[in-house]
Amino acid sequence: MNVDLLLRNVHLATMDSAEGYGEILNGALAVHAGRIVWLGPDSKLPPDVRPTEEADCFGHWLTPGLIDCHTHLVWAGSRANEFEARLHGRSYHEIAEAGGGILSTVQATRAASADELSDSAYLRLRELLAEGVTTVEIKSGYGLDVATEVKCLRVAKELGGSVPVRIHPTFLGAHAIPPEFARRADAYVDFVCEKALPAVKSLGGVDAVDAFCETIAFSPAQCRRVLEAARKLGFAVKLHADQLSDSGGAGLIAELGGLSADHVEYTSPGSVRAMAKSGTVAVLLPGAFYSLRERQLPPIAEFRAQGVPMAVATDCNPGTSPCTSLLLMLNMACVLFGLTPAEALAGVTRNAARALGVQDRRGRLAIGLDADLALFDIDHPRDLSAFMGRRPLLRRWVAVGARVPSPAS
Ligand code: NIG
Ligand code: FE
Repeated sequence: MNVDLLLRNVHLATMDSAEGYGEILNGALAVHAGRIVWLGPDSKLPPDVRPTEEADCFGHWLTPGLIDCHTHLVWAGSRANEFEARLHGRSYHEIAEAGGGILSTVQATRAASADELSDSAYLRLRELLAEGVTTVEIKSGYGLDVATEVKCLRVAKELGGSVPVRIHPTFLGAHAIPPEFARRADAYVDFVCEKALPAVKSLGGVDAVDAFCETIAFSPAQCRRVLEAARKLGFAVKLHADQLSDSGGAGLIAELGGLSADHVEYTSPGSVRAMAKSGTVAVLLPGAFYSLRERQLPPIAEFRAQGVPMAVATDCNPGTSPCTSLLLMLNMACVLFGLTPAEALAGVTRNAARALGVQDRRGRLAIGLDADLALFDIDHPRDLSAFMGRRPLLRRWVAVGARVPSPAS
């Protein structure tokens, strides 16, 4: 068997089992044409494997390339002033209602050129990649008019052209009510459904639609309209749900067969059951929980009991989670939410792939899956969650031996 790359003398955290890390000690892994074609104990390596390139991994640990399944990576401006204001006692609600929050980023993002947006997003992307990330979801939602939303989605798509990474752009038109629609939320929802969604559809390469279901954003009925219109156009759907209150958002996205309900701190037991039934992933965002000094913990025990897959992501955004470290999120998911280190790692591999609808192609080390890999200088995969601020990545590969596909493929 001819293969492009053979990794030997490597411990594998395959993440290909319902629990734990799916460890294979003293393993080997072969890759051809962008896919994993063999893996197992090195002692069982078939004698006919003939690699173009062979690498000794010196007993380091190989994991699936990490997946950040929830980011808002493309924006302009800074909200550090709001960080400071919150520490002087102002709440996220108050700041948002006074025209700060998401809307201040919208103003800066509308004014920025595509090149400016691309340059700043690229710096953030590079930070993620330096930790072993190989797939990144990127939401729009700081434009809120057709031209700026399309500008941001284009920037997101094209980020994948400058560096080996897979990008999944998501349209988040229903993120906030823009100033030109102030106090006319329903009219803005009409605009999103009738004007913005078709424009995004014809742009192409955008695979999902998201909305922000919250008292300071859109009601469940308004989110339903956006998501149903999106489904009619063939988009997958997901939702920022139950972050600051229980609006039934997670139940709504489960009912619509959505990929994921994200944040989910206030999600009720009934909504958890609905998510279990529909296979909707709970995307945990400990960076936002931490930054907003929230108290309400997501219902982790119920997710476990009902078998709802849990993913973990950075939610990288300028307001509530200014964070480009997915590894720090592993630590926070463990310390703040009580995930086990194996659950946390599954949250940025196997379950993050599911949150993007690519669980058959990525998120595990298994034969036939995409050869997106990360090699770490660690003693055990639990180290990835236990440490803060360390960067143990030695090397990452995206689709070895194949052209990296364009966004959303
Ligand atoms: O995921 N919740 C809504 N959206 C972002 C916050 C965006 C912002 O404050 O700029 C989030 O936390
Ligand atoms: Fe978010």
